Amino acid sequence: MRSALQTHRADHTPVLVDEVREHLAVRPGDTVVDATFGAGGHAALLAADLAGEGRFVAIDRDASVRPYFDRFRRNAGVQARFLRGDFAVILPQLADNGVEADAILLDLGVSSMQIDRPERGFSYAADAPLDMRMDTTAERSARDVVNEASERELADLFRRYGEERFSRQIARAIVRRRREHPFERTSELVETVRSAIPAPRRFGDGHPAKRVFQALRIVVNDELDSLESALPAGLRMLRPGGRIAVVSFHSLEDRIVKRFFAAQARGCTCPPDLPVCVCGQEPTLRLVTRKAVRPSPAETAENPRAASARLRVAVKT
Ligand SMILES: C[S@@+](CC[C@H](N)C(=O)[O-])C[C@H]1O[C@@H](n2cnc3c(N)ncnc32)[C@H](O)[C@@H]1O
Repeated sequence: MRSALQTHRADHTPVLVDEVREHLAVRPGDTVVDATFGAGGHAALLAADLAGEGRFVAIDRDASVRPYFDRFRRNAGVQARFLRGDFAVILPQLADNGVEADAILLDLGVSSMQIDRPERGFSYAADAPLDMRMDTTAERSARDVVNEASERELADLFRRYGEERFSRQIARAIVRRRREHPFERTSELVETVRSAIPAPRRFGDGHPAKRVFQALRIVVNDELDSLESALPAGLRMLRPGGRIAVVSFHSLEDRIVKRFFAAQARGCTCPPDLPVCVCGQEPTLRLVTRKAVRPSPAETAENPRAASARLRVAVKT
């Protein structure tokens, strides 16, 4: 098993670990659900807080995390099981089957193992097949999106999910190129994006293809819809007093979490101009973190990938 783990260049470094641990406040006997298991860095610390008593459910849509889970299970000291799939599907199934949780963690996005393995096609820094699927059995890859979406759809997704200023120019350049040569590799996309951005603007805001790659990754993995579906299912699974923690890495995700937590903490859904509440809806969550928790400068210095992380935690009333 060690050799399976050694095939990765570097394991994922979990972010905001002290903050996640403190705010999730796992106690012996709890049931913990880590819906984004990855390399199991957070999982190991949360399992330690179970101190040998409790249950652990690990979820990930990427089958390649399995060796990490096997290692985790050997050391966890509690009953642990792994469920492979999208948390947007698995959390509702668990809730429907009456599984209750005391702590749920969603640490969104991709792991370092996914980014650093060029063959997964997530990185604009390495030439590889244009893939970007977290679940390698999923039907649609980045190659399909880039070769099949209309110019308008491409421009729209680069603007919405990548906040890319040159979305229309990039979409036009992609459509022009693919008429001759359909896209197969990340380097072809990087080159096309670079050529579509006016020269003086190419290096102002990080790598010129960064935002296009982010947008494609979000679309290929349906990341925002998965999050929207997972939050109510997670809430349904939580026992009263149970906590849900979400670490997001860009403002689109964080906005979804912030709005969901705020709506559940408010309860009442009546229009603000009604003098009294007629909906009768009670709050179902209380915010543990009023503002998103950000990594310290020391953490960001040590792990630059933590820089954009934001943690929000809420407790079920
Ligand atoms: C940032 S990493 C998590 C790292 C983990 N907390 C650790 O300490 O190693 C995100 C992981 O979540 C998985 N993931 C992302 N979206 C998912 C989804 N909708 N359903 C299930 N797993 C997902 C990815 O495959 C990846 O392994």
